[in-house]
Amino acid sequence: MTHIILFQKEVSKLSFPKNFLWGGASAAHQCEGGYREDGKGLCTADVITSGDGIHNIQRRVTYEMPDGSKGSCQVFPMSEIPDGAVLKCFDDEFYPTHEAVDFYHHYKEDIALMAEMGFKCYRMSINWTRIYPNGDDPMPNEKGLEFYDKVFDECLKYGIQPVVTLFHFETPLGLVHKYGGWVHRACINEFEKYCKTVFERYQNKVKYWITFNEINNMNFLPMYAGGLLKIDEQSRAQASYHQFLASAMAVKLAHRIAPDMKVGMMIAGQVAYGMTANPKDALLVMERERDMYFYCDVQCWGVYPAWKEKEYERNGVHLVKEDGDDAILKDGTVDYIAFSYYSSSCVSCDPNTETTSGNMCTSIINPYLEQTEWGWLIDPDGLRILMNRFMDRYQLPLFIVENGMGAMDKPDENGNIHDDYRIDYLRKHIRAMEQAITEDGVLLLGYTVWGSIDLVSAGTGEMRKRYGMVYVDKQDDGTGTYTRRKKDSFYWYQKVILSNGETL
Ligand code: BG6
Repeated sequence: MTHIILFQKEVSKLSFPKNFLWGGASAAHQCEGGYREDGKGLCTADVITSGDGIHNIQRRVTYEMPDGSKGSCQVFPMSEIPDGAVLKCFDDEFYPTHEAVDFYHHYKEDIALMAEMGFKCYRMSINWTRIYPNGDDPMPNEKGLEFYDKVFDECLKYGIQPVVTLFHFETPLGLVHKYGGWVHRACINEFEKYCKTVFERYQNKVKYWITFNEINNMNFLPMYAGGLLKIDEQSRAQASYHQFLASAMAVKLAHRIAPDMKVGMMIAGQVAYGMTANPKDALLVMERERDMYFYCDVQCWGVYPAWKEKEYERNGVHLVKEDGDDAILKDGTVDYIAFSYYSSSCVSCDPNTETTSGNMCTSIINPYLEQTEWGWLIDPDGLRILMNRFMDRYQLPLFIVENGMGAMDKPDENGNIHDDYRIDYLRKHIRAMEQAITEDGVLLLGYTVWGSIDLVSAGTGEMRKRYGMVYVDKQDDGTGTYTRRKKDSFYWYQKVILSNGETL
């Protein structure tokens, strides 16, 4: 008996694998700033204004018409950008990503803070337009390459593994204007060229790569996710098709350049519940989740699901393909599944139900769940459910590369930030993750808290929607000193990592 108890204790101590990758995550355009420095070109994120989630003011993309007039349209839900429009920045608009939290000049300080928390990995993105400013330049920009060399070296100095996203909503404007974004097949070759450059350059520094961040966002944010100016279903379907091919080519290329490099897909995780036991609600759940599984099926299995083909047929969508495409998709399936998870959603066939927002989606209010200040439902069990579903379906290792809580942190009179709500959120999600590992046998490579150092919100463009364990003095009106300050969650996460998840 004693023996069994001891054994159980031992097992629980080993709940997270020895080499588990604890860390934090960011995206280039949301943290770097320096938007024109050292030869960087413009990307889609650079022409998106700030919004305001509390007052429901949407972010807008700004453009100039051929007659010189200025125009703008909402990014979510997106309205069409008129023909002839040239996306550009205007002096009388505020673009929060231009300065962001100035990681471009603070990276040493920020990585030192990550090291102090004990990070084993740091998920970040390379901004394509630092490497190829217009997307189709004949030669890469050496200054841009040097910047990421310095960032990776700084990480490695502390034993932090960079986990690198190749595309986090950063389509070069050059490709948007020349081709209309990812709807054009030419983007695949340009992306492949960019991948070749960075794979070759960083093969000895980066082992884990991620192709397209939240690739399923083509559904909700076609401009953001694919640099699209047109939002009809045909354009979105074709753009996704090109991203799938580009992802498959990137996987093959990485394996050819360095067989030990691992390339994952990345999806905005969706778990949906039906409001009632009405089978009509169950059908809605199926539809909502399918929207996500479609993107996973193609990247994990290399084939389009039958239901998608039927849907395209019904809606008159016709994918333009080339000979050999099927083989490319089949041969370029991913090594692991990376995903973001913030909340579950709830659906109902009753049109009179009250809704709330979520990560790039809306949901019926779920009476069993609390919400964040931005209305996102807090549901740690949903994370465990999602992990199990991915594992059951694909039998691939998983990597949680985004999870966290956006909140309005208020420094006290001494400047300290007591973010116990964030600690509570993270603790519950880490527990759910632990259960998925120990009780369900899910294979999880790592966990990176989103926006571990405060950054600009992608959805609203706000600074006050803070996710970090490190506070950055940068405000919504652009003021601030960029001073970094450790929140209570900083010290808490430090203990979590030090104990490999034992001390929560
Ligand atoms: C994901 C994105 O959608 O969620 C991130 O990959 C984003 O870029 C994060 O920041 C949180 O969303 P938001 O809208 O709160 O910034």
